[in-house]
Amino acid sequence: MTPELSTDFSTSPVAIKTVFPAGEPLRAPASSLDGMVTGPIELGGRHLASRYFLAPLAGYTHLAFRRVIREIGGVGLCTTDLVQASHLVSGTRWARELVQTHPSDQPLTVQIYGGQVRHMVAAARWLEDHGYQAIDINMGCPMAKMTGSGGGARLMCNGDGACQLVGEVVRAVKLPVSVKMRLGWDRSRLTAPLLAEEFEQLGVCAITIHGRTRQQGFTGDVSLDGIRAVVEAVKSIPVVGNGDVRTAADAIRMRRETGCAAVAIGRGALMDPWIFRRIALAEAGDDSAVDFTPTPTEQVDFLRRHFELMVEQHGEYLSCRNFRKFAAWYGARLGIPEDLEDRLRKFESVAEFAEIAAQIEDRHGTRTEPLPTALIRTPNGPVEYW
Ligand SMILES: Cc1cc2nc3c(=O)[nH]c(=O)nc-3n(C[C@H](O)[C@H](O)[C@H](O)COP(=O)(O)O)c2cc1C
Repeated sequence: MTPELSTDFSTSPVAIKTVFPAGEPLRAPASSLDGMVTGPIELGGRHLASRYFLAPLAGYTHLAFRRVIREIGGVGLCTTDLVQASHLVSGTRWARELVQTHPSDQPLTVQIYGGQVRHMVAAARWLEDHGYQAIDINMGCPMAKMTGSGGGARLMCNGDGACQLVGEVVRAVKLPVSVKMRLGWDRSRLTAPLLAEEFEQLGVCAITIHGRTRQQGFTGDVSLDGIRAVVEAVKSIPVVGNGDVRTAADAIRMRRETGCAAVAIGRGALMDPWIFRRIALAEAGDDSAVDFTPTPTEQVDFLRRHFELMVEQHGEYLSCRNFRKFAAWYGARLGIPEDLEDRLRKFESVAEFAEIAAQIEDRHGTRTEPLPTALIRTPNGPVEYW
């Protein structure tokens, strides 16, 4: 099947929030929840307590982050960072570390990518043999490293190839298989609805749709119309909407305007690790969602816990280096004074981290800059050079 190209559904662009939503009301008006299905969701035979999921963010959504986010509560499903299928099977250290999990890290889906059917099938079988619960196929990554080998978003340009790959992975295992994709390669090739329809027939259990094209990268409008077109294309499987959800109100609006059954949140969870809890409160009609703020102790404990879990998995040296990039994200939300955020960007040891955390506790809230000092690093410049 080669999907017919071009359905322009980008008629109502949605403003993107790229800044920290400090002080913004976090709860949608109760009326906006009317008639909307809330609470648990069934996905590929799994009963998920919430329909708000953590979207994979390579380099960020590692085991420690997933565990600490789950401890806050409200997240229905986490997915690993994308893992190269061939590396998973051949057993490279990095690929195996990416799929490391823990009894508290449930429910979990492992995301694999690759352009070769045999690698993807072998990786799916490996995951089944090793007790994992579910597999997600990456069809959205815009990076040349993935698309060059025919994987990631490139698969969306080749309807027959994508269907063959998905069909063979689904047939190879008993585990539920889902697909995460974009609207298409660019505005002239919006293949997502047609592919979603085909993938459903091939037996995938869900589709996650990031409401941008590959051409857009990570900026530009998220098209709720585009997400809705995918929702309308499938018969009964859940569609998970994704893109630029930063507040509970954003999540509820995405569900209301697209009809998607669930929402995946990536960068919004880095900016606000309590976002899933806020959404749960909002859905429960709890007025405290509007003003809900974790106490200073909860905020510093979150920081300490995330780092502690990283050290548990990776040891001191790597954890210090890998934790630094979170400083810019956590600084504003966790009330970290600017000079201490700066120290978090370059600390060298567990002892130094403990000293910085103690100072954050003492001087919590004395920060003057309410916005994050840096946004997540995404590729920029012409998309052809990524
Ligand atoms: C740094 C970064 C890493 C990402 N890694 C992955 C990945 O491993 N797998 C994937 O399917 N999407 C990945 N994405 C895309 C996100 O899952 C998500 O679709 C996108 O960021 C839009 O959602 P958001 O605005 O909630 O972050 C990544 C995005 C960013 C910014």
